[in-house]
Amino acid sequence: MVSVLFAINLCSKSEDSNKLAYPGTTDNETVVVKHDMTLIRIVEFDGTKLTIDAWLGTEWRDPRFLWDSSPTNIRLPISLIWTPDIVLYDNPDTRIRFEPNAIIKQSGFVYYSQPIRLEVDNCRQFQDVFTCTFKFGSWTFDGFKIDLLNRSHVIDLSNFQQHKSYDIIDTSVVRNELYYACCTGIVS
Ligand SMILES: *[C@@H]1O[C@H](CO)[C@@H](O)[C@H](O)[C@H]1NC(C)=O
Ligand SMILES: *[C@@H]1O[C@H](CO)[C@@H](O)[C@H](O)[C@H]1NC(C)=O
Repeated sequence: MVSVLFAINLCSKSEDSNKLAYPGTTDNETVVVKHDMTLIRIVEFDGTKLTIDAWLGTEWRDPRFLWDSSPTNIRLPISLIWTPDIVLYDNPDTRIRFEPNAIIKQSGFVYYSQPIRLEVDNCRQFQDVFTCTFKFGSWTFDGFKIDLLNRSHVIDLSNFQQHKSYDIIDTSVVRNELYYACCTGIVS
């Protein structure tokens, strides 16, 4: 899912700001970020509001991580590297519950998975079926800077703990590309 916002590009004030800076290069300003979701459990559902526990996976390439020698991958806490600011639009202040390590491959690919509790109150009922949607996107970067793609076309249910009252019928993932008329073609 990509959702494009009017954006301010922010830069961290950290003393060591270079390693936390946006990794786009002048050759290619776009950082392709891939996202996936693993549903763990339904915490609460009241017909409108759905709260779930999930793992969110995020993958991108940071060309500053490139090396030849072994090891072929390393692990670093995500607070030490640049990470894309992908948020759940319904609840942007959703906090991660602990800081995972990112796995960084020598080709520059970075991946981390975060356990997270997500809540939306947009569920709609049609006959017996409720549909709830979780929309993610970058908070500050537009679609020219962060191109958000889905890593799969469904939510991973392989770790799902059955709920006593509700079944999951199916899931889907849609990448939503929306450019506002004012900004089409402008890279800033
Ligand atoms: C540059 O970014 C675009 C944006 O999605 C991507 O499709 C393309 O493969 C990238 N090119 C290089 C050389 O990395
Ligand atoms: C991303 O989602 C679209 C739409 O559901 C799907 O067609 C596509 O296969 C998905 N991408 C991947 C890598 O699964």
